[in-house]
Amino acid sequence: MAAQTRVKPTTKPTTEQKNIQANKTFFGRWSKTYDSLGIRFWMRRFQIPALREIKFQPGIKILDLSCGTGELLQDLYRRGKGKIKLFGLDISEEMLEMARKKLPLEVTLVRGDVHRLPFDSGEFDYVLCTEAFHHYHSQYQAVTEMKRVLKNDGKIIIVDINFFLPSIHWLFQKLEPGCVKINNQGEMGLLFKKNGLKIARQQRNFLFAIMTIGQKEERGKKDKNMEKEEIRK
Ligand SMILES: C[S@@+](CC[C@H](N)C(=O)[O-])C[C@H]1O[C@@H](n2cnc3c(N)ncnc32)[C@H](O)[C@@H]1O
Repeated sequence: MAAQTRVKPTTKPTTEQKNIQANKTFFGRWSKTYDSLGIRFWMRRFQIPALREIKFQPGIKILDLSCGTGELLQDLYRRGKGKIKLFGLDISEEMLEMARKKLPLEVTLVRGDVHRLPFDSGEFDYVLCTEAFHHYHSQYQAVTEMKRVLKNDGKIIIVDINFFLPSIHWLFQKLEPGCVKINNQGEMGLLFKKNGLKIARQQRNFLFAIMTIGQKEERGKKDKNMEKEEIRK
């Protein structure tokens, strides 16, 4: 009988899979010490201006993407006084474990990937994302997903690091595991515009972060606004 030759399946991980794995490993290891005072000092200062953007009306739904150890969710919970619905998503089980320990049960925590959100379309009034955007392998797709799960007139608030100098960004991209791209203000704005989001505002938060706020406009409203712009031209 002729010997059968077995062909080993070549399952080389894709660039996307490698990025997800790098983030899981990096943040899995960092999870236990992430809430150290030094890190919290910076993160809080980057996040406070984002918190000020939120109108805490009863019943609103907020999604914190890449919620990490849940510090921002904890702050949102306090300010919402039990009248708002909170959701957090992260790729790292270890980061979520830390979040679970400090958050009440009514805050829903989900393990998932920002590029394929496990939520229905038009669910949230606000989608927040702080200090994580530079870790996403497809930043365009991430914004597309954020917009999909947002209600009409809802807001996306992304706060991400920016250290002014391209050389520092280059170093970060080389040295920090899972880091893909640190954007400047113009690049962030373009990602929002390409996704059909109206830019409400962009600003620096505490020197080393840029906050971009985008709004999802209703179709009819958007067309009318575009008509007005045409007339003005
Ligand atoms: C620097 S931490 C920021 C945590 C928190 N948002 C904060 O402001 O402190 C980045 C987080 O992004 C998460 N992350 C990285 N890639 C992700 C992805 N593709 N989907 C969801 N979360 C991701 C990591 O697990 C980590 O918790």
